[in-house]
Amino acid sequence: MTKRESKNKFLSGNWYPVEETSTTELKISGELPRELSGLFLRNGPNPKEPINHENYHPFFGDGMIHGIRVEDGKALWYKNKFVTSPFGFGPNTHVLKHGEKIYALVEGGVSPVIMDSEMNFLEEEPFPAADNKRFTAHPKIDSDTGEMHAVSYDFGEYVNGLGQVHYVTIDSNGKLIKDQIIETPSRPMVHDCAITKNYVLIFDLPVTFNLGRRDDDNNPIGGDYPVVWNDKHTSRVGLQNKKTDEIIWIEVNPGFLFHIVNSYEDDNGQVVLDFCRYERLFDFDNPLPMGQKPFLTRWILDPKTKTCSEEMLDDRPMEFSRVHPDFDGKQHRFGYLLNDGRLNNYFKHDFEKSETIAHDFGESCQAAEPVFIPRKNAKSEDDGFVVGFVYDKTTDLSDFVVLDAQNFSDAPLARVTLPQRVPFGFHGSWINLD
Ligand SMILES: [Fe+2]
Repeated sequence: MTKRESKNKFLSGNWYPVEETSTTELKISGELPRELSGLFLRNGPNPKEPINHENYHPFFGDGMIHGIRVEDGKALWYKNKFVTSPFGFGPNTHVLKHGEKIYALVEGGVSPVIMDSEMNFLEEEPFPAADNKRFTAHPKIDSDTGEMHAVSYDFGEYVNGLGQVHYVTIDSNGKLIKDQIIETPSRPMVHDCAITKNYVLIFDLPVTFNLGRRDDDNNPIGGDYPVVWNDKHTSRVGLQNKKTDEIIWIEVNPGFLFHIVNSYEDDNGQVVLDFCRYERLFDFDNPLPMGQKPFLTRWILDPKTKTCSEEMLDDRPMEFSRVHPDFDGKQHRFGYLLNDGRLNNYFKHDFEKSETIAHDFGESCQAAEPVFIPRKNAKSEDDGFVVGFVYDKTTDLSDFVVLDAQNFSDAPLARVTLPQRVPFGFHGSWINLD
């Protein structure tokens, strides 16, 4: 058995880790839009040797960031580096810019790490005044105020029996404004949150902390991941008022979400949430991932009646949902997603027309999360580009691909071929640098 044919599916094929490398010699097919001046970063797990093939789980793999620097129609460099942290574990899940700082992020009690635009990791402490640097991979940034809102939890607190999550707000200068404790006795895994004009949404769903399962020989998930589907837990969403700190809990259909597309309040004060819904997850009969598939779903939560309606919006599995970066908490029309079946399609969903357009990369390709970049002086919500790393099994290399978001099915505007493959990973961002 070669290394790339591990019996652990998260160490097989394009999941297998790569070495650090860098180059300034990059071949471009097509034309990179000259107005794209910046850096595309993507974080993901890349376990260091020695790797335990029996027990490895990607949620615990060492963070590695892949970056490509683009300017004036040229691809200046590509490099990939392990996330090095002065605080311990290198966050492996997301990388984004807030204010003037770029953060590598992960959930569960690990501190974010600050990096510069040359991909150097800094010793600087994030969020001065925070007594605990626990955070999340999926904060939301209010483009009106510049504030970053996050719902985080800490496995250390869970181990100590504390059933609580934290609603944290960071101002545009990276300073902690608020750290509010919200009681969640079942100790839920909370991967994402959502914001609207008045609320932050707390997802208290039935995947909850269970340390005991780590020792269960029948645990099909492996990797000692200490959460489990919990039939005894009532699924609920908290509408936490951002100003008054009051919370309205609304019971919802049992299910789980890793990622939202977006959320907003409609004219009637109802909260609209679009997300990728799993029927059941972290269940012994349905190990994660690639057991159950997620489907694009809309919940409408009514704070007056405390009820929730549910509608499935497309019957194709899709994940890694993204929206225009300035639309967190504002009414959106478009979402961008990855086909969670064969991985060879990006989807653009039009929530106004209720239709999905696909971009097909072809049989040999496996794409990763699509990231939308608005055009400067954009005239509409989808006036911009969709970018991502796409792995080609025939060459065993990855391309940085740029699509025209308004001509989504058309051939890519540009493909930049990298000197190596980018393993499957999690999330990334475009960082403007002009
Ligand atoms: Fe995520």
